[in-house]
Amino acid sequence: MTKKILVATDKPFAPEAINLMQGVIANKPDFKIELLEKYTEVAQFKAAVKDADALIIRSDLASKEIIDAAGQLKIIVRAGAGYDNIDLAAATASKIVAMNTPGQNANAVAELAFGMMVYIARSKFSGKSGSELMGKKLGLHAYGNVGRNVARIAKGFGMEVYAFDPFVSADKIEAEGVKAVKSVEELYSTCHYVSLHIPANEQTKKSINFDLLNRMPKGAVLVNTARKEVVCEESLKKILAARSDFRYVSDVAPGCAADLEKDYADRLYFTPKKLGAQTEEANVNAGVAAVKQIVAFFEKGDVSFQVNK
Ligand code: 3PG
Repeated sequence: MTKKILVATDKPFAPEAINLMQGVIANKPDFKIELLEKYTEVAQFKAAVKDADALIIRSDLASKEIIDAAGQLKIIVRAGAGYDNIDLAAATASKIVAMNTPGQNANAVAELAFGMMVYIARSKFSGKSGSELMGKKLGLHAYGNVGRNVARIAKGFGMEVYAFDPFVSADKIEAEGVKAVKSVEELYSTCHYVSLHIPANEQTKKSINFDLLNRMPKGAVLVNTARKEVVCEESLKKILAARSDFRYVSDVAPGCAADLEKDYADRLYFTPKKLGAQTEEANVNAGVAAVKQIVAFFEKGDVSFQVNK
């Protein structure tokens, strides 16, 4: 029986990515790819996943409802890094392997972080005098694939780069020319710019709070290409009110965006839609990796990128 790989993307992959994803299975009659793009109702997703053997998603919600609607699903691949949109407990209970494609869109996200940093440093291209990134201290809150790419680009800008990551050894961080700090408090106390690269989970949601933000030196900029949920919105309101130097740029807007923009528009920038990984290159990298991982799973039982072990 041909295995159906459903690609369910509210935010579609670039056409070139779809071509290359199809290319991975071009000589494999055992697999077919079906697209469900820009769907508007969960019911459409449920109907399409019913007879799928594999599912590829981006930020789309692989909820319990979707998983329960899938009659023969064996694998879900989040084409990207963060898998907070997969109900892992429901997947595990249904014996479905969940994977991500780590690193595949990291450069795209890192470049966006710099796009937003330059934009806010240059007063949102309004013509008002701004400031430069050179010589500023940049703190990477987590040093995974995206953090490392941000560090690489930051060196070109002449920034001093610091990082905090309890899961990466200081030796490894320092070997890449980045200063490892011992605590998250030290990172925020040291750096003018802090760029978030932590996942959204029960430990990290709302963890970026007033105490941390208020430690940042004058001219503070918080850069969020991670998840909006990790920043405490109450703290954000409080710090913007307390400090006229504090700025926040984020991919994407917090729930309280409209409220904040009324008073602090010149110190904020939010992307209209999550677009960190929205490049043809990132779509190709993550989409092709996802299809290859699915083929390797079915052909060889390869579970290298499984996240629900
Ligand atoms: C990720 O976790 O990989 C990024 O947030 C990209 O999300 P997207 O695929 O929805 O653009």
